This record gives sequence, structure tokens and C-alpha cells, in this order.
Amino acid sequence: MLGLGIETSCDETSIGIVEDGKKEISLKVYSQTELHSAYGGVVPEIASRAHLEKINDLLDISIKESGVDLSDIEYVAVTATPGLLGSLIVGAQMARCLSVALKIPLVAVDHLEAHLTVVRLEEKNPSFPYLGVLLSGGNSAIFQVEDFGKMKLLGDTQDDALGEAFDKVATLLGLDYPGGPEIEKLAMKYSLRNNEPLIFPELLKDLPSEKILFSYSGLKTAVLYYLKKNPDYRKELEKICSHFQERAFSLVEKNIKRAVSVTKIREVVVAGGVVANSTLKERLKKISTKLNFHLTVPERKILCTDNGAMVACLGYFLLKNGKTSAIDFKVSATRMEDFYEN
Ligand code: KG4
Repeated sequence: MLGLGIETSCDETSIGIVEDGKKEISLKVYSQTELHSAYGGVVPEIASRAHLEKINDLLDISIKESGVDLSDIEYVAVTATPGLLGSLIVGAQMARCLSVALKIPLVAVDHLEAHLTVVRLEEKNPSFPYLGVLLSGGNSAIFQVEDFGKMKLLGDTQDDALGEAFDKVATLLGLDYPGGPEIEKLAMKYSLRNNEPLIFPELLKDLPSEKILFSYSGLKTAVLYYLKKNPDYRKELEKICSHFQERAFSLVEKNIKRAVSVTKIREVVVAGGVVANSTLKERLKKISTKLNFHLTVPERKILCTDNGAMVACLGYFLLKNGKTSAIDFKVSATRMEDFYEN
């Protein structure tokens, strides 16, 4: 069964064509990074306009290059929530048009669940229930995923997301946007010693032992104060990046450890743009061995960041399990708890 997935929730316009929810036939991603880099973050109006300008061409290219005929597409899936409203509307309109014109089902997809489902395109099949850890530019959260279309929020960030912290700290350090890959490159050049005292404080040190929570704005402020106190900081950029990563990733580990201990679930999927970071991947592998849980992460970088293939993939499983629903943008929802049961 061939499905087409459309992703326009933030700053990537993407179309993916997937067969039977597990085989990627085509994946095209147009990243708007350059348009937003001058601002150090995504500007919603620029994002929606750029989606509108690109999406038709991207569909044409996907169809031409994949050798698939539009009439062979059997369903269209689209990211419906969460995301930037103006951007979501662009993808939703294209999906509605295709659904009506081709007389095929339209499947509305949750963006975060799509990130967690994408590993199925790499021949990995995490069994339910699993812990879904999402680490991206817009979200840092842990879910208990019960089934396709059914996940419960265990904890999220009370301020900045992990990727957002990388981007904001990179801006403070005068690095390019997006900041994640830049910070990673510099951090890799520094050899952190065992038990080396870190220049930034431990995050959420006094959090009650059963609580699952992320918070990165304090770390960003700690970096800011350090730079103000040390005007010569450019000489030690590699150390700053390494210490920042160390603190940021320790909190990820702490929360995963808690989630495993509270739920007793030993199947963990970690996804989202930040998982492209190889230091994080290594650390996750180590704790999975230490805590004895089965870890699944997307291997290809293109599948870690926003993409249409993950949308087509989840769309397939929702359709097969009779879980299609109408597009609901949830415009009044502002917090994670408004989107997900917890
Ligand atoms: O999943 P994603 O494409 O979606 C959002 O836009 O939310 O993630 C993008 C985020 C950015 O914040 C970027 O800085 C971060 O993922 N990122 C990384 C790395 N590559 C991308 N963070 C740390 N290390 C990386 N190598």
C-alpha cells in the first residue's frame, strides 16, 4: 500500500512516499534554515509563506523522481498537530486537495508520535507499551506509548526544549543556526576527564525522585552569566560546549532512568532532531546496557529531523488499525497537557 506523507509543522517542508508503513520509496525535505538563521530561531510568518512557495514543486519532484504515479497513492497523511498554525494549514490544504482529487483517505497525524514511529522505516519494531522520548527543537518529553494513536504524557519541559537550548546557547556563543550541530562539533574536540568539575550547575538537582521533568532555561542563563564573567570565553569554546552538553544530556538520562523505574517498561524509543547528536546516542546506548532496557533510535539523520516519511509511516498504521480522524488543529491548546492525556 503506497502512502504519501506531508510535513509542514515548523521549518521543514517535506513529502515522503512510503510502502506498507515500512519501506521508504521517496523522501524530499526542503529546509528553511537559511531563511530563519538571521533571527536565531523560526519566524512563524516566514515559515508558512516558505511552505506555500515550495510545497507544490516538492510534490512534483517527489512524484517524478520516485517513478510513482499519483494515481497509485492509496492514502495521504499529514501532520495536523502540534505545530505552527499557519504552517500546518499549508500541509493540511494540500492533503485535503489530494484526498478529494484522488478519492483516497486522509489521515491526520500527530507530529510527536510520527517522530517516535519513524524507526519502523529502519526495520525496527518496538513492541507496545514503550517509552517514547522526544528530544527536538520544540519538545522535550517522555510518553508512555500504548498503541498507535494512543500515548500518555509522563513529563515534559517546563520552559525551553532541549534543541531550543542548543540553538539559544549557540546564539550566545556567536555560532551558526541551528546550534545543535555546531555545539556538537566543538564539544567533540574537547576531552572531558572523568569527574571533571563542570562550569555549569546540575539541572533540577532537588527534583523529587518520582518526578519526570525537563527544564533548560536555567542552563541557558548559566551559560550567559559565565560568558559575561569571562570576556575571553572564545578561547575555551570547546570546553563550554562540552560542559553544556554534559549537563543537558545528564538530565535526559535522569528522566529516562526515572521513567523506566516508575513504569517498569523496558522498551525505549528516543527520537527527534537532537538524537542526531552522536555523543547523546553513545550515552543512551551505555545507559540502556546499564539499566537493561531495549533502546531504539533512528539511525539516519534525515529521519531524526522533521520529515514526510515519518508522517506517511504513522499514517499507514493508523489507517490499518482503523484510527483515522479529522484534522483538528487544537488552536486553543498552549501547553503539552492540553494535547495529551496524562
Ligand atoms: O526534530 P527537529 O527537526 O524539529 C524541530 O524543529 O523541533 O529538531 C531540530 C532541533 C534543533 O533545535 C537543532 O539544533 C537540534 O534539533 N539538533 C541537534 C543536532 N542536530 C540537530 N542538537 C544537538 N546535536 C545535534 N547534532
